[in-house]
Amino acid sequence: MQENFPEHVAIIMDGNGRWATSLGKKRTYGHYIGSLIVNKITESAAKIGIKYLTLYAFSTENWRRPKSEVMFLMALLKTQLGKKEALFRENDIQFRVIGDFSVFDDRIVAMINGLMSKTKNNKGMRLTLALNYGGKHEIARAAKRLCEDVKNGNIKICDIDEALFKNYLYTFDMPDVDLLIRTGGEKRVSNFLLWQSSYAEFVFFDKYWPEFTEDDLVLAIDEFKRRKRRFGGL
Ligand code: FPP
Repeated sequence: MQENFPEHVAIIMDGNGRWATSLGKKRTYGHYIGSLIVNKITESAAKIGIKYLTLYAFSTENWRRPKSEVMFLMALLKTQLGKKEALFRENDIQFRVIGDFSVFDDRIVAMINGLMSKTKNNKGMRLTLALNYGGKHEIARAAKRLCEDVKNGNIKICDIDEALFKNYLYTFDMPDVDLLIRTGGEKRVSNFLLWQSSYAEFVFFDKYWPEFTEDDLVLAIDEFKRRKRRFGGL
């Protein structure tokens, strides 16, 4: 592993709708092209040597969008999941989902479970899709599960610390985020990986997600390498 190389890269893929609108097209066209960029960047990240790539694909807040857009995103998710097996096999990618995907339709749930199971022994990059994911929801869910274990006598309150709490998060077996990238010009975290990004370096791009390229990913990594991470120390 190169020095200062980010082990875990997370991306907020923003701007699909604005990109399509700027071209006089429907917002859904932006999501479609955005989904193709997901494939390209996944391959690039694996090739570059990133160990963990986590993509924010659908937030707990995205249900507030017009029904037609939500339905389009669900249909797109189904089509895209159906096409991922070869990509994962050829690039030795392990696939995971974080977020409560049990609310999606049965076919999508089955596809996600199938892909996670088929790729579980792959040793290359781990690709994690955040689906129906929210950072606050994840932390509240962890607290609830931890309380259950206290109630059942499995753990003692005095044993609770950050390392133990982490075991109750979706990302229990992943390192914290090193580099968090957001496209689309906004500079906020939007409820993504709140616990895991406590010391992440942020790199923002004004360009929209459908315009994002492998060169941009390399640029963000180069920027990361130049940053001095002190984790609160000197
Ligand atoms: C943000 O663009 C993007 C999303 C809310 C969804 C991201 C989805 C993809 C990249 C497609 C692949 C994912 C699935 C679920 C198949 P936006 O619509 O917020 O853009 P805007 O800020 O311009 O409105």
